[in-house]
Amino acid sequence: MINLNIEKTFGFISKEKVFGYEAEVKAAQEMLEKGTGKGNDFLGWLHLPSSITKEHLADLKATAQTLKENCEVVVVAGIGGSYLGARAVIETLSNSFAWLQDKKDAPVIVYAGHNISEDYLYELTEYLKDKKFGVINISKSGTTTETALAFRLLKKQCETQRGKEEAKKVIVAITDAKKGAARVTADKEGYKTFVIPDNVGGRFSVLTPVGLLPIAVAGFDIEQLVAGAAATEKACGADVPFAENPAALYAATRNELYKNGKKIEILVNFCPKLHYVSEWWKQLYGESEGKDNKGIFPASVDFSTDLHSMGQWIQEGERSIFETVISVEKVNHELKVPTDEENLDGLNFLAGKRVDEVNKMAELGTQLAHVDGGVPNMRIVLPQLTEYNIGELLYFFEKACGISGYLLGVNPFNQPGVEAYKKNMFALLNKPGYEEESKAIQARL
Ligand code: PA5
Repeated sequence: MINLNIEKTFGFISKEKVFGYEAEVKAAQEMLEKGTGKGNDFLGWLHLPSSITKEHLADLKATAQTLKENCEVVVVAGIGGSYLGARAVIETLSNSFAWLQDKKDAPVIVYAGHNISEDYLYELTEYLKDKKFGVINISKSGTTTETALAFRLLKKQCETQRGKEEAKKVIVAITDAKKGAARVTADKEGYKTFVIPDNVGGRFSVLTPVGLLPIAVAGFDIEQLVAGAAATEKACGADVPFAENPAALYAATRNELYKNGKKIEILVNFCPKLHYVSEWWKQLYGESEGKDNKGIFPASVDFSTDLHSMGQWIQEGERSIFETVISVEKVNHELKVPTDEENLDGLNFLAGKRVDEVNKMAELGTQLAHVDGGVPNMRIVLPQLTEYNIGELLYFFEKACGISGYLLGVNPFNQPGVEAYKKNMFALLNKPGYEEESKAIQARL
């Protein structure tokens, strides 16, 4: 069960106002359930956790096993919603130094198709040169330039290193059922494929094969991940009373803060493994709410690291921010501060304490300081970093995002603004079909 605490926002907004959202939240929940709101053709994520079958999971696990058995490295090629969910879960659950260890239980997972950096791609191809590698090519549209470009390079390299027939066994495509270049290639080459359902948008697709296959290849329990998400689907359901529904409370609180001038939400962690959960969350909320000249700007920091960079701004900069902290109750390992006879560093006052106790005091101290400094604070407590708990967290954020977008009055399920840069880039690159745009853009330079 998601444990959300909103008490430390009440010095800035009133409890009455937050609870005053009950009727609006109910209406938003109804629009989601009945499919009567904007973007209602993209609601496939809503009851996805509870509808995933054992057979589907078995199919994913079998494919993951093939990749595990035949690859030292698996490249996950995708961008935005076709990459961030998998990376968020994998990095949260992985040993921080897994990729440096000699003995590995699962292939090393690396990422491509999420940038167009020549150096990145060159260095990746160099790294893969002497490796038995496979590729999971993920693109719903099947035409995203970043991903298609990376896949062209990776396909060629994989075929050169392993031979065309062998390469087919270790390349998997996750894409549309019928359309797009990724589908055409996969069908022609005979790759194993998984379908991204039409009614699930990229940023809501972590519990489709987009997230589940890479997560399974990395060695994590996708059944537990889905079970956690399914539990939150129930706990945040339309029938759960407002006061007991964490997704409803989170959506209402952040909208009330926004109305009171808090235009930026900072997602905070005190555990670097959660860095990519924040990246995933930024896409989820940024793409869902940032439109019609509205929307909270989603930002993130990793503490205590960023207390030594962004901490000053957060403590004393413009008071237009609020924080949502993801706190991990129980860490996975134990490490105590040793005693030092000389005590040259003056740290013997910490001797015998768990490192996590020091971190927790940094967390508490930061919360109090930031609230004193005028920063409203919400807190989500995860019992531990496990598949189940991460599944709960991901679905919680998705559900709250759907409600929150409707409270804001936008269509939370489209992303028309993403096309603007693509149009200009294609015009500048003289892509066939963009002749008029090319002329127009050249005239502006
Ligand atoms: O949320 C979204 O829809 C986007 O971020 C997409 O996931 C991203 O642009 C990648 O698109 P595609 O999967 O079509 O390659």
